[in-house]
Amino acid sequence: MPTKLTDRPAWKALQAHHEAVKNVHLRDLFAQDASRGERLTLEAAGLFLDYSKNRVTDETLRLLLDLARETGVESHRDAMFRGDTINTTEGRAVLHTALRAPRDAEIIVDGKNVVPDVHEVLDRMATFADQIRAGTWLGHTGKPIKNIVNIGIGGSDLGPVMAYRALEFYTQRNLTLRFVSNVDGTELVEAVHDLDPAETLFIVSSKTFTTQETMANAQSARAWTLAALHDDAAISRHFVAVSTNAQAVQKFGIDTANMFGFWDWVGGRYSMDSAIGLSLMIAVGPEQFRELLAGFHDMDEHFRTAPLEQNMPALMAVIGLWYDDFFDAQTLAVLPYDHYLSQFSAYLQQLDMESNGKHVTLDGQKVDYQTGPVIWGQPGTNGQHAFYQLIHQGTKLIPCDFIGFLRTLNPSTPPGMPAHHDLLMANVFAQTEALAFGKTLEEVQADGVKPEQVPHRVFEGNRPTNTLLADVLTPRILGALIALYEHKVFVQGAIWNINSFDQWGVELGKVLASKIVPELEAAAEPELKHDSSTNALIRRYRARKQG
Ligand code: F6P
Repeated sequence: MPTKLTDRPAWKALQAHHEAVKNVHLRDLFAQDASRGERLTLEAAGLFLDYSKNRVTDETLRLLLDLARETGVESHRDAMFRGDTINTTEGRAVLHTALRAPRDAEIIVDGKNVVPDVHEVLDRMATFADQIRAGTWLGHTGKPIKNIVNIGIGGSDLGPVMAYRALEFYTQRNLTLRFVSNVDGTELVEAVHDLDPAETLFIVSSKTFTTQETMANAQSARAWTLAALHDDAAISRHFVAVSTNAQAVQKFGIDTANMFGFWDWVGGRYSMDSAIGLSLMIAVGPEQFRELLAGFHDMDEHFRTAPLEQNMPALMAVIGLWYDDFFDAQTLAVLPYDHYLSQFSAYLQQLDMESNGKHVTLDGQKVDYQTGPVIWGQPGTNGQHAFYQLIHQGTKLIPCDFIGFLRTLNPSTPPGMPAHHDLLMANVFAQTEALAFGKTLEEVQADGVKPEQVPHRVFEGNRPTNTLLADVLTPRILGALIALYEHKVFVQGAIWNINSFDQWGVELGKVLASKIVPELEAAAEPELKHDSSTNALIRRYRARKQG
């Protein structure tokens, strides 16, 4: 029986240490060490991390890294990179790192080097993307493709959407990209309402090719195309598939010559750098897509080789775990100060919450500690005018990751106007300063504030933040940033001794929905065997659905 996490010496040492330091203020930590702001920083793969504004001492970090070592993070990491079957509940290797391995790398799965297969698919994707971008892939009526609609959900949507928005600056602007994920038909209707079917390509992205939402949207897109083009032969010019399931792709009517594959050792939420990124590759071009992969690989190499003390994903992981498990923080706010990263927090929600939203250990024991946090956030500065009040003065401890860039991709500001980027970045630095140091009673009084207002205007501070900076948002930096969070999630999952690579928690709802669909559609009143609430809701829907 493996040692329970909470029985481990390092855990117990952390509990005792927490008692001793839980009320220490960041003001004091900074006052005691003039070099703290420069010392507790790290650079890797083009990213700079300032983790000094966290409620940690050198001793905290030492103990947290002891815990990481004691729980075997390093050997677990090596097992992942080696291709061991670490996704034990599904009997699979976890090898998204192979998706960005260089052409000459060797990674053996079931006795076979998978790297050549990865590059074969990337090369096919590149040829196809170039044809679309050059206007030489013609639709059924001979018109070039101008519109690309990716149909997929979860990992087959969130990554491409996020990265498309993030890299919009690098996209070929005469192409229109849309993303359809929700089974709510409204999304598809709105996505295609102004598109010409003769100029539109659908990429049906689904690892399993069985996902209800994606299959429904794909069928409707097919009907929309055929209603205009009146010929089944049109499908081969207007539909391609990204999947691991060639049989289902064929059954849908897509020629497997127009299918881009990947493998069961790529988890859905870790798949945006596989063929699932086809829409993105069309938008930014194969060269920039390869830059993105190179950025992922930069971070992979850093994570694989750096000692834990200087390992960015490991440090972010243990600091996050410190708040989750010892301060009982429930959430993590991810706050990118870059308009292009508007979907980054939404992407991280699946990456982190589907990975580490688990309540049993690898050997099936119920955990007696907190696992993954709720991830949320909005790009700055908008969030400042919405929810930051609660972060500054509310009753909850909300650790935050601030992400900013030293140079903007859009520097031109009209002459005589203040530089937008300086305004933006001033807010990053101001927020983390305010959250850490706050404003004391004495400082508020010294401002001559009316006595009755004083308590309302005190900021306790001691709100922890990480600041991540990079020079400029490039595909390579985006790759490194995503890989940073992938590996952070991995380290936390390893310490918590959970399987970060399955997602059984989404199954029950899917199964129940498939039972309810025929009940909603049956001509005669069905015999309902749910609870009284669900029965009544179904009856109400049936009674009123025709308006
Ligand atoms: O939400 C559950 C899930 O299985 C995700 O892990 C996955 O990314 C998503 O559904 C979509 O699955 P697929 O790519 O097979 O359509």
